[in-house]
Amino acid sequence: MKIQILTLFPQMFSALEHSIIKRAKDKGLVEIEYIDFRNYSKDKHKKVDDYAFGGGAGLVLMAQPIIDCIETIDPLHLAHRIYLTPSAKNLTHKKAVELSKHKNLILLCGHYEGIDQRIIDLVIDETISIGEYVLTGGEIPAMVIVDAVVRHIKGVISVGSLQNESHTTQGQWEYPQYTRPQTIRNLDVPPVLLSGNHAEIEKWKKENSVKFK
Ligand code: ADE
Repeated sequence: MKIQILTLFPQMFSALEHSIIKRAKDKGLVEIEYIDFRNYSKDKHKKVDDYAFGGGAGLVLMAQPIIDCIETIDPLHLAHRIYLTPSAKNLTHKKAVELSKHKNLILLCGHYEGIDQRIIDLVIDETISIGEYVLTGGEIPAMVIVDAVVRHIKGVISVGSLQNESHTTQGQWEYPQYTRPQTIRNLDVPPVLLSGNHAEIEKWKKENSVKFK
């Protein structure tokens, strides 16, 4: 998979240079490219934002640099193009799995008060929110999408790790996990997990796959 991230702040994405996402990149399972759309501004000062028509606080990202950027990097519209915004449906496990099937994704990160609506009307396929709160920009949401999506690409993590995890079954969360030592401050590991009785262990896991605090 190739993911192209359109952002005014490419340096923020250093979080993706670690752990499982880094390993996926090193293995060639995902390629991530950061594109500063300011480079596509035709303004002599490389301006990318302006006041909102009709008034209101804050600046709005202009259509020209972003539309030119997207049409330059994806002239045949082969990529699935996503704009991160709090005014959209929330990301779900199902959506992450669905997005992982695409060969090319473009993630557009907004900043300031928003973007010119005509960008969404003309060159965006889908808008996604990561939750019902407002962040200062789309960069952290884009990182959330990358993390949630890339782990579903074949070869990134083991099939077993994906099977029993939280949210794969509607309304169910993963069962509690324990490792050594067996006792911490009078709290013991549930004895059934040490019993070696696989049927009982599976039964316990099923019974305990509910929301915990
Ligand atoms: N940009 C700002 N807040 C956001 C959110 N909650 N989800 C996606 N993009 C955003």
